[in-house]
Amino acid sequence: MNRKAKSLAVFPGSFDPITNGHIDIVARALSVFDELVIAILNNADKRPLFSVEERVEIIREAYRGNPRVRVDTFSGLLVDYAMKAGASVIVRGLRAISDFEFEFQLALMNRRLNPGIETIFIMAAEGYSYVSSRLVKEVFQLGGSVRELVPPVVERRLGEKQGPASIAPQSRRRRRRVR
Ligand code: PNS
Repeated sequence: MNRKAKSLAVFPGSFDPITNGHIDIVARALSVFDELVIAILNNADKRPLFSVEERVEIIREAYRGNPRVRVDTFSGLLVDYAMKAGASVIVRGLRAISDFEFEFQLALMNRRLNPGIETIFIMAAEGYSYVSSRLVKEVFQLGGSVRELVPPVVERRLGEKQGPASIAPQSRRRRRRVR
């Protein structure tokens, strides 16, 4: 029997937290690759809202029941992680032209570090062009609604992060919708 090897790609990032923009990229990547590893950078320099362990839990919950998506963490060089994971493709999402300059640099540096690993860019749906993890955190912390911008597990975990003191007033007045 001619059993074809499964294609595997790595989707790296900070994912602090994962947004619906990331979810959109994952769905599009799964239309190209058989399996995807969502690889969370474990960066001691940054001060994230969610710990790496929390981000793993959140993403696992978002993809529970989907055997084509794995969640992992990495530190050190991304190309070294991709090699170890057995992937020769890195997937990165592009929201707008403004993302391109940085992504282009990253892709060329990764190519220099390991020419055997290819970076593939996937364009997010236009509706997510303005969605970023940083803005999601800011909007939520200032009392705006992030519904439709993040998966339900993220909205819940953001609420838990803020604690009962800040959740109480918001449950009395309904969160404003972001358009
Ligand atoms: O979600 P982000 O913060 O845009 O993701 C950036 C990430 C994690 C893809 C990038 O910082 C990265 O790959 N870091 C690992 C370190 C590395 O390999 N650096 C050399 C390539 S420039």
